[in-house]
Amino acid sequence: MPEPTVLYVLNGPNLNLLGVREPEVYGHATLADVQALCEAAADGATVVFRQTNHEGELIDWIHEAREKASALVLNAAAWTHTSVALHDALKTLTIPIVECHLSNPAARERFRHRSYVSPVAAGVVSGFGSFSYELAVKAALRLVQERTGAAGRSNQTT
Ligand code: DQA
Repeated sequence: MPEPTVLYVLNGPNLNLLGVREPEVYGHATLADVQALCEAAADGATVVFRQTNHEGELIDWIHEAREKASALVLNAAAWTHTSVALHDALKTLTIPIVECHLSNPAARERFRHRSYVSPVAAGVVSGFGSFSYELAVKAALRLVQERTGAAGRSNQTT
């Protein structure tokens, strides 16, 4: 029996204020709206969707994802640009990581151009508002499928 797919979708600081925080940058969808979009895009996979304003809590959830998740979609918000601790925690994962942003940080202030997540991510989806999350979930599912498929094929040849 194949293992059930579990996607962790983790969100960093200030994303609890989505919908009211700089809507001209981040849009009008709330975090609850984004969660619903992720669940709809997940095609029956389990979605563990969380947000925190505490960096250590995010690190703990990443450690949890090591044990429990098939893939991780991460919008680390401002910690993307600042956190070596986050980078180090992500490096311990062997599951696919998809970096996700509502805005396109590369087209914004210089301090947002550095990402401590990108070097350990399979890919980045940014700039599409809440649609970024749907695309990121789809990408994560595809990466999980590819891994499962690859394992199946290598079993057949041995
Ligand atoms: C963000 C982009 C970050 O630069 C910013 O600090 C955020 C949100 C985004 O989703 O566009 O808080 O990650």
